[in-house]
Amino acid sequence: MKPRFEPGFSDLAAALRTAQHVCVLTGAGISAESGVPTFRDAQQGLWAKYDPHQLATPEAFEEDPELLWRWYRWRRDLVAKADPNPGHLALAKLAELVPRLTLVTQNVDGLHQRAGSHGVIEFHGNLFDDRCHAEGCVIVHDQRAEVPVCPNCGAHLRPGVVWFGEAIAETALNESFAAAADCSVFLSVGTSSLVYPAAGLVDIARENGAIVAEINPNPTLNSGNYDFAIAANAGVALPELVESLLN
Ligand code: APR
Repeated sequence: MKPRFEPGFSDLAAALRTAQHVCVLTGAGISAESGVPTFRDAQQGLWAKYDPHQLATPEAFEEDPELLWRWYRWRRDLVAKADPNPGHLALAKLAELVPRLTLVTQNVDGLHQRAGSHGVIEFHGNLFDDRCHAEGCVIVHDQRAEVPVCPNCGAHLRPGVVWFGEAIAETALNESFAAAADCSVFLSVGTSSLVYPAAGLVDIARENGAIVAEINPNPTLNSGNYDFAIAANAGVALPELVESLLN
């Protein structure tokens, strides 16, 4: 049967069949089918009047930590009610079918892990971590205070995500760059490729000889630079890719 996503789908499947190391970068698009809203989607309800690009900053937190915590608790509730979708599940399965797979995600929702993926590199942190805003340490226990404080130093705790203007954790950065440089196939899924340094991983992969491919129903700024750009939803194309590897 002819695959539905030509051009490129069978070439990508063939490349995956012989790949020694696959590096996958995911973005908000893979969680869209789980109903998780992105920053670039309109905010809903009470939060519609706020610009997330201004809220998700250290400056906004320092100015009004209560407001930020109310927003993040709303986001945590939304994500807690969402479930991994067939796209997340297919990537967990793909890891079992290739010799090595590195999964780098810009998402902070933890849905890859809930789908069964291991060793996920969370480029932008995790929504459910509480981190000391002064020292950066992650505090595991959940506090009920409107603005929780660090039990070690008394500074405000904040959600463990990377805000606009903040640096990516060094380990995540180093591991992702190394995986992009080492992989034989680089797959970018559901990201608009607007936010660096994550958007630069594909260039590292291409410069080091990897086959690079994108799965996104809409063209991105990078689409023209991929060997294969599969215009499809992740929740449909990824399970079909995995299926084609099994046959
Ligand atoms: N399957 C695959 N891709 C999809 C789907 C789908 N079902 N639905 C939407 N998309 C694509 C959109 O076409 C878009 O290109 O997902 C992309 C989502 O883009 P963004 O909302 O810009 O998300 P992302 O690229 O992850 O953003 C990067 O910016 O918002 C900040 O820090 C935040 O980590 C985030 C970063």
